[in-house]
Amino acid sequence: MRLSIALANTKPGVGKTTNSVLLASRFHALGHDVLLVDADPAQSALAWSDEVDGFAFKLIGLPTKDAGRRLADYANPDTIVIVDLPQAEDHGAIVRGVLRYVDEITIPVAPSTIEIDRTSAIGDLLEEVAEVRREPARVAVLLNRVVAGARSGRDAREGLEASGWNVLDTQIPRREAYALAYGAPPEVSPGDPVALLADEYLTRAGIEVAA
Ligand SMILES: Nc1ncnc2c1ncn2[C@@H]1O[C@H](COP(=O)(O)OP(=O)(O)OP(=O)(O)O)[C@@H](O)[C@H]1O
Ligand SMILES: [Mg+2]
Repeated sequence: MRLSIALANTKPGVGKTTNSVLLASRFHALGHDVLLVDADPAQSALAWSDEVDGFAFKLIGLPTKDAGRRLADYANPDTIVIVDLPQAEDHGAIVRGVLRYVDEITIPVAPSTIEIDRTSAIGDLLEEVAEVRREPARVAVLLNRVVAGARSGRDAREGLEASGWNVLDTQIPRREAYALAYGAPPEVSPGDPVALLADEYLTRAGIEVAA
């Protein structure tokens, strides 16, 4: 595997599936070999793929406790693997199993006090995972559903950083296009925040970003 990324949070509905599928689409458009792993027993990425008669990139369903350990069985040395996880509060074993093995752990969070307060629960889970990992993961919060021009995004970033979280530079705005993404062919135009997010992951991994 060239790079593995998992999107995780304790609570459902934070934007894991939307961002996982769009990121996979963007990495594929950049010419990378991509494998999207749907590790959510709800199988929403698989259902999305069905709606559009299949994605252009590889997709497997692997909602099992040993999904993390098995990722390497399904990937080539140059594959970028993205794992769409279920909410950890209901499926802790699957989430821990994946977070133990991926390079990059991303916690999507909306910039609201209630969601930020909940990051302590995923923080506890990450501490448990850190104890069994061979090497530390790169861990960062992804601000998702940020309202353009509002203070909430900036305040959330400051608050999260003050409590010790690393926050990705790229943030995903709240947009109708993302809300409607499910069920349509996943397409990400250059310059779209998801495209910038893909570039940020490549940079963090030391992989050259195409000009
Ligand atoms: N940036 C965004 N702007 C607007 N709507 C968004 C955005 N990101 C996600 N949504 C919407 O929020 C809802 C939850 O998103 P999504 O299904 O991606 O979350 P999830 O974390 O995978 O949820 P679950 O835990 O149920 O699997 C969906 O209706 C989606 O369309
Ligand atoms: Mg989901």
